[in-house]
Amino acid sequence: MRTRLDSGNPLTEAEAPGAMNKTSTAASLAESSGAGGGERYMDPFAGLFTAASTIPLQPLIDRPHVHRLFESISWGQAENLYGYQQPLTGMSGPWVERGGRRFLMLSAYDYLGLIGHPAISAGAVAAIGQHGTGTGGVRLLSGTAAIHLELERALAEHLGTESALTFNSGYAANLAALGTLLEPGDVALLDAYAHRSLYDGCRLAGAKIQPFAHNDIVDLERHLASFSPAHRCLVAVDGVYSMDGDVCPLPALIEITRRYKAFLLVDEAHALGTAGARGGGTADHYGIDAGEIDLITGSLSKAIPAGGGFVAGRRATLAYLQHVSGAYVYSAGLPPPCAGAALAAIRVMKQEPERLVRLKYNADRLKNGLLSLGFDIGQTSTPILPVITGSNESAYRLARHLFDAGVIALPVIPPAVPRGTARLRLCVTAAHADDDLDMALSAFASLAPSGRC
Ligand SMILES: Cc1ncc(COP(=O)(O)O)c(C=O)c1O
Repeated sequence: MRTRLDSGNPLTEAEAPGAMNKTSTAASLAESSGAGGGERYMDPFAGLFTAASTIPLQPLIDRPHVHRLFESISWGQAENLYGYQQPLTGMSGPWVERGGRRFLMLSAYDYLGLIGHPAISAGAVAAIGQHGTGTGGVRLLSGTAAIHLELERALAEHLGTESALTFNSGYAANLAALGTLLEPGDVALLDAYAHRSLYDGCRLAGAKIQPFAHNDIVDLERHLASFSPAHRCLVAVDGVYSMDGDVCPLPALIEITRRYKAFLLVDEAHALGTAGARGGGTADHYGIDAGEIDLITGSLSKAIPAGGGFVAGRRATLAYLQHVSGAYVYSAGLPPPCAGAALAAIRVMKQEPERLVRLKYNADRLKNGLLSLGFDIGQTSTPILPVITGSNESAYRLARHLFDAGVIALPVIPPAVPRGTARLRLCVTAAHADDDLDMALSAFASLAPSGRC
């Protein structure tokens, strides 16, 4: 079966009802810039979507949503708007190289600017020297190395929890925690904007998933009141929301979960290293003892420039995960270079607190600049800055305009964000210089909805 590629533009969505005026203005201005011109994006599919007017669909993927997806990709490539998966030829950082040209990077999670930090690279190399490149086993059997234990102690100390356990990714950590601790019959109340891995962990457990309105304690209480105490309830939220940059209302979440005898999981993937006076995360941000949270999960691939994830909490809970969670018992231990880099990064975070100060300064500077240009950046209070355009197409065209100006800022569209709220999700880092942010702002200024430039 082959799917035709000439059907319209599936990336264009109607504006969401009630979308703010400035959102619509940004969208129409971006759309008025015409089809993506300039240098062609590299084709990550080696001509699959461009060689012919039809592409083969094997029976395995011959389904309506695959047709729609492939039509979208084909349209994006034809319009020179498909800018995902562009291969970088060097390290990520404030500036990157792609196709022989340097770009200002505004879409990387390297919040503290630690990728390439000599002490962290040396930590990875030393771990290879001591343990080699792989563990040769799952953690429960032969795959535990001394450096795992050292890292887990350092993580627990930094977060302020009794204990911590590492996994191969933040995604796997959430599957491990939720997939193991919840059961059919349990209820998982998830913030509507919570990360996909939290939803997938609850699906793995077979728990009933009940989303509540984003950061809305009244809506959460309405659901808790309808389920508790007949069911075991767990509330799961992001500490800092990855697509919006706002922070969860932790004090209210702790209070309400206590009152309803529910459990609380906070995913600190984007909060670790960025939130709080010492980068301890959301509990540090609010000045709360992290021991008040039942489970903390997170990633070692964002402010900590390695790879891997973790679950932190009480020792007994983690001892249970060590024997039952599939991601721990049936998957090889975190590779030593990742453990070594993560351990070194925790030390650097402590030794170089000025990075966090610079991160906050940069986030404010870019945020204020975008606001003064009239862009809609939602409710962010962190280094994650969403530039909300509304329609998918306007996000693609804005990203293309920035790319032509030498800035990489990638679009995020539904289902990763709600329909009608497509955006460029910017991440500012401590490594951006004032000049870098000025350059980004002048690129945005030429399409500013306020029309000032
Ligand atoms: C909130 C949140 N949790 C978990 C993850 C997954 O982390 P990892 O990339 O380490 O798998 C992400 C990734 O972006 C995230 O944003």
